[in-house]
Amino acid sequence: VNYGNAYFEFSGEKPVTVAESMMYPGDNIVELPTVGKDGAQIIPLSTLDLSKATCGWGKIKANTSIDGNPIKLAGKTYRSGVGTHATSEIIVKLNGAVTRFDAYLGIDDEVKQSGLTAVGGIIDYRVSLKGGDGNLMTEQEGRIDVRDNAPVHIDVDCNGWKYLILEAMDGNGRNDFDHVDWANAYFEFHEKSAAPPVIVEKSELDSKLACATVMFSQPNVRYMHKIRSTHPDATITVSNLPEGLEWNAKRCLVEGMVKQEGVYHYDVSLDADGEHETVEITLHVSSQLQQPVPFMGWLSWNVVEGEISEEVVERTADAMVNSGLLEAGYNYLVMDDIWHAKHRAADGKPLPDAKKFPNGIKPVADYVHSKNLKFGIYSDAAEKTCAGCYGSYGYEEIDAKQYAEWEVDLLKYDYCFAPTDQQTALKRYKAMGDALKASGRDILFYMCEWGQREPWKWGHETGATCWRCTYDTRDGWNGLINQQGTGIGILQSIRDMKNLYAYSGPNRFNDADMMCVGIHGTGRASSDCVEKAGMTQDEYRTQFALWCMWSSPLTLSFDLRKPISEDDLSIMTHPELIAIDQDRMGQQAELISDKNNMIVLAKDLENGDVAISVTNLANSKKSFTFDFSKMDALDVETVYLVRDLWLKRDLGAHKAELKTEVASHATKVFRLSKQETTGIQSIDRDDLKVAVKDGAVEVTTGLENAQNKLILVSDMSGRVIAATSGTECHFVLPVPSVKGVYIVNVICGGKSQSVSVKS
Ligand code: GAL
Repeated sequence: VNYGNAYFEFSGEKPVTVAESMMYPGDNIVELPTVGKDGAQIIPLSTLDLSKATCGWGKIKANTSIDGNPIKLAGKTYRSGVGTHATSEIIVKLNGAVTRFDAYLGIDDEVKQSGLTAVGGIIDYRVSLKGGDGNLMTEQEGRIDVRDNAPVHIDVDCNGWKYLILEAMDGNGRNDFDHVDWANAYFEFHEKSAAPPVIVEKSELDSKLACATVMFSQPNVRYMHKIRSTHPDATITVSNLPEGLEWNAKRCLVEGMVKQEGVYHYDVSLDADGEHETVEITLHVSSQLQQPVPFMGWLSWNVVEGEISEEVVERTADAMVNSGLLEAGYNYLVMDDIWHAKHRAADGKPLPDAKKFPNGIKPVADYVHSKNLKFGIYSDAAEKTCAGCYGSYGYEEIDAKQYAEWEVDLLKYDYCFAPTDQQTALKRYKAMGDALKASGRDILFYMCEWGQREPWKWGHETGATCWRCTYDTRDGWNGLINQQGTGIGILQSIRDMKNLYAYSGPNRFNDADMMCVGIHGTGRASSDCVEKAGMTQDEYRTQFALWCMWSSPLTLSFDLRKPISEDDLSIMTHPELIAIDQDRMGQQAELISDKNNMIVLAKDLENGDVAISVTNLANSKKSFTFDFSKMDALDVETVYLVRDLWLKRDLGAHKAELKTEVASHATKVFRLSKQETTGIQSIDRDDLKVAVKDGAVEVTTGLENAQNKLILVSDMSGRVIAATSGTECHFVLPVPSVKGVYIVNVICGGKSQSVSVKS
């Protein structure tokens, strides 16, 4: 049966179905207005497609509360509106013709009826507008507690803005009963052939620019800032660069060197799809950066967990010195979770567990300092730490002051039991960052929210100088998700880190978590959530190499009280790899390719060298050819002297490509030094002197005296044009007097030296 073209003509009260009249009994019902100001059309929020809005619990609803009841706030029932639950975000693209948004915001009366607990039903809200130029303005914000507050009237002038952002966040760390209603919510719309408003995904709001907007550098240190876009066809331009910096359009980066300390600004503009966006970059040049290069040290969590104590800290400190780790650069000893007493002191100050730390924390810190090490501690931006000890939320100032009195040098600040949204995380981290700054001691601030809220974009605003970018890295090649949590093995670290390179730099490092070299499956937390706990030496070497390529802080986590094998030690103290990590330009290696199970990264270094790595994810050995033309940092016309860092061996001069073989799950790292074709006439190093004179090359090598040495001089194509050998150290080789670049190789007892010089 069809009722075709069926309608009512009515004056006065609108007819409703019987079902509806039973849902909305009585008179205390709020109706939408039929027409807006100046005759504007009314578009109810509830008529938009809500599927792209986010909702912290259940499913967002049109015209009912989250529990499916009529929307009811402070005794009044609203026929129209949207029912949602914190944390919720509704992002509306206004499309040009919306002039006003109106709503009543509150927590639905249904939560009172369902036995509201003392802590539930409290939200923080924010209503903001974003313009096409990226400008963001908060219009209204505040807190609503269902026990005290009437609904808040939201009334926003939308003229000239591109997006309206409606946010409802958990207000007090307990996301219970946060049933948020945007009641009687509507847009006034002046149709000018414009499309009506639509709800869009949050990612639409993001800037198309994918790079750090606050940068750091040191005076007279080479600087590099990679500028990337999320839009494939964006055009990027840079203007107002300070003296010493240039825009390298080919590589899409700003580079150069600033000589004077100071705060500088330059502008990055992006054009894509007819939209224009300009972002101001702030560059702090200072010789007092908190973390000019990634910090290095040891963290207790992976192998020690709750067994942390004065004894463990002091024996670890001894071992850091005796094993040579301090000398290799590892100078922070960080005590992770579970150092705490059950409760704080009566005056709120933090207290350690009296059994584990019978003399308190200060003597332990003193001991660590007496060994020339720095001392780190751990807390959490909520009421509890991850392991359930007391956290620092609400106690930031007391804690920071106490840490300063204990002479703590680093705080790892975790994020368990805290609200999930990014704004709250920023607030909570900043509260601690500010407290640390006010504490009177320079305490390195290390954020640990596991990369869940993209801290590489905002972490620096809190005062932090490095931030974890992944969940906990476990002692395994492949991590698993199981009941204990989310496991990150090497494969997942690569997945999570590989695209963050435009956000790293001095004083803002992307941290890939503790390294597991030396643990061999014997850890505690590190053995969870992996396919197999423990790795091969090649896999540990891969982890170490990647961390160095990424400029991640280098934190060891094995049990230092047990003997360390020579091989393990040679991985973690490898000077040439550590030099890659600690390079003062602070670049995170750029992903060059991720194909056929091979991960290729390239990292620009301060002296102009380039480190390249290739990781073989396959289960068998693979050969690989680096094609220099695929790497922006390399030039196909240039001859590079190549050194294999793991082997500590020079591989001679290479042009345009480099062939190698990589064992299964291993990583090769090469350091390439440029030899300009305009060339150098002579080389004068401690271990090798080469000079080109008319028709001859003169070589003085520092390689062992008594052994036979083979000296080869070849041209650019690899053809040997002169050769000699002998046990002496000084050689003169006649060469055809052609102009060009000669490559000189000195080979002696399995060692080789290689340089290129110009004749
Ligand atoms: C985790 C953190 C770990 C460790 C642990 C302590 O959240 O990622 O590195 O600190 O908490 O409970």
